[in-house]
Amino acid sequence: MICMEMAEFDFGKIAGRYDLCNHLFSFGMDRLWRRAAVRLLDLRADERALDLCCGTGEVVFALARYSAAGEITGLDVSEAMIRRAQGKQPSGGGGRIRWIAGDAVRTGLGDQSFDAITCAFGLRNIPDRLAALREMSRLLRPGGRAAIMEFSLPSNRVLRGLYWLYLRFVMPAAGALLFGSRNPLIYLAESVRAWNDEFDFPKVCEQAGLSYARGYPLTCGIVRIHLLKHKPMDKEHKIMME
Ligand SMILES: C[S@@+](CC[C@H](N)C(=O)[O-])C[C@H]1O[C@@H](n2cnc3c(N)ncnc32)[C@H](O)[C@@H]1O
Repeated sequence: MICMEMAEFDFGKIAGRYDLCNHLFSFGMDRLWRRAAVRLLDLRADERALDLCCGTGEVVFALARYSAAGEITGLDVSEAMIRRAQGKQPSGGGGRIRWIAGDAVRTGLGDQSFDAITCAFGLRNIPDRLAALREMSRLLRPGGRAAIMEFSLPSNRVLRGLYWLYLRFVMPAAGALLFGSRNPLIYLAESVRAWNDEFDFPKVCEQAGLSYARGYPLTCGIVRIHLLKHKPMDKEHKIMME
């Protein structure tokens, strides 16, 4: 989530240190953020959930723990991250969880095969976000919902300034000590700024056939859960997407 994010970055290289890094840089709040996203979806026992860009499986495990979802699928492009997630899976999980190595833009999964989709700290890193959102729209059943969690910048100017110092300077310095390079964390800060200031997320959701229901700021606005709803496409929109 927090560490070593670059558009073409191979997360497999840091799979073993990924969780530690997240807990460290977020002061342990990352687990609370994921739990909040899961609770927001309020899944029933007959519903199926898909976690895109699942990484080491933290959202998948939160879905298993804090939701009633009957089936939970975690998908990530990095096989090393998937292996790490599988290694963390408690035995006897009741067969609710399955893992898939695949691309969030072209999952190969069936139309309308999920009731809910989660994606935490993944969408920002996908170069073609519209294509990823269109794939989510295709995968969701009519009326399905998605919780997208991403970093954001606080709207309060003082907090924003302080948080920017932490994100842009303190974290890269710590990254240099921990991983020998500050560049991936500088990328993280710049991509968060660009997402926050330049990316019109609600508009891109609409283009993808998803309606932007609401944004929920967490921890003074440094993280935001974006709740999206699948909206049935009209004929013209459907033709445009084919
Ligand atoms: C910052 S991590 C987030 C992991 C996890 N969701 C979490 O909450 O910690 C981003 C993940 O997205 C994955 N990823 C990046 N591009 C992807 C794509 N096109 N399809 C699927 N996974 C992708 C990476 O391999 C990485 O595991």
